[in-house]
Parts: sequence; structure tokens; C-alpha cells
Amino acid sequence: MTLLTVWSTTDPSTPEIQTRDADTIRDILAGLGARFSRWEVKPLSDHPTQDEVLSLYADEIAAVNAEQGYSLVDVLTIIREDTDEYRETAATGRQKFLNEHQHDDDEDRFFAHGSGVFYLNVDGKVHAVFCEAGDVISVPANTTHWFDMGTSPEYVSVRFFHDDDGWVGNFTGSDVSSSFATYDELANVSV
Ligand SMILES: [Fe+2]
Repeated sequence: MTLLTVWSTTDPSTPEIQTRDADTIRDILAGLGARFSRWEVKPLSDHPTQDEVLSLYADEIAAVNAEQGYSLVDVLTIIREDTDEYRETAATGRQKFLNEHQHDDDEDRFFAHGSGVFYLNVDGKVHAVFCEAGDVISVPANTTHWFDMGTSPEYVSVRFFHDDDGWVGNFTGSDVSSSFATYDELANVSV
């Protein structure tokens, strides 16, 4: 289940809030201008194609596009397997998104499978949202954040964009992300 952890940016060792309550998570994120909701999870094949995911959730995606005006949707898929290619993709992918950054566009994600953690660094607090299958989260444009997919990532994520450029990150150069609990640590929290 989704887990929200909030720390002061100056005290990464002491969570101020830690909750799995969906309404609380939605309300706290709404205070940051971020939308959070859940969709019913539908069964996927073991290695789903982009077309499979987009057609399975066509109605939900169309509703988001109509409401938010998105013009481009794609699917990011990484499935755990015992290959050098997976380990290479996992390591480079994790490091890229782990660096704190912003976007000119909103970063809307639906997790159709697997999990990942978005960290929003806003107003002196870091808000870590451990997202699971069914979660829909939006990081507003120009919000400082990072993403941790963990050391053995597995997820299928639908991404929404307002233009054709796709994912463009403006990196802050800060190493703040290294101070806070990682995906692997948050995956083991019992709350
Ligand atoms: Fe991002």
C-alpha cells in the first residue's frame, strides 16, 4: 500500500508524518498542488507492451487527457530479470532520476504495476510517496523532486506530457536525495 513519509529537510532521520491512509496522503499532497488518486488495477501480461497498457486503461487515460490537456502519453516498463542488460538499465535508470530536478511540465504518473518513490522537496520538507500499482500521482511543474526506483526496480508506469518533448529534467545539482531513506529502506517500513 502507498506510504507517505514527511521529513524536515534539515532532519532526514526523524519522520514528522508517516501514513498509509489514502485520504490523508491525498490531502497533504493537495497542499503542495499535487494530485493523488487510485485506479482499479487490471491484470497485465508478464512483459506488457506499451499498446497493451494504453488500451487496457484507455478510458482512464482519456479522462486524464481531457481534464489536464495532455497530448502525449507513453509507458515506461522495467521488469526484473537475471540479465546483464537489466542490471545495467536498472543502475543507470535509477541514478538518472535519483538526482534532484524539476520539469517545465507536470509529471503525471500512473503505476500499472510495481512501485517507485517520488520525493517532493517543498517549503523545507521532503515528502516521499512510495507509489504502488493503482496509484496516480502528479508532481506539479517546477516542483523540486527526485524519484527512486530501488536497486532491483520493477514497474510499469504511464506518463503524461503536455508537449512532444517527453521527459526533460532540469537538474538542481543538489545531493539532498542521498540524505533521505531510499526506496529499499522505505519498502521495509511497517506502518
Ligand atoms: Fe521528474
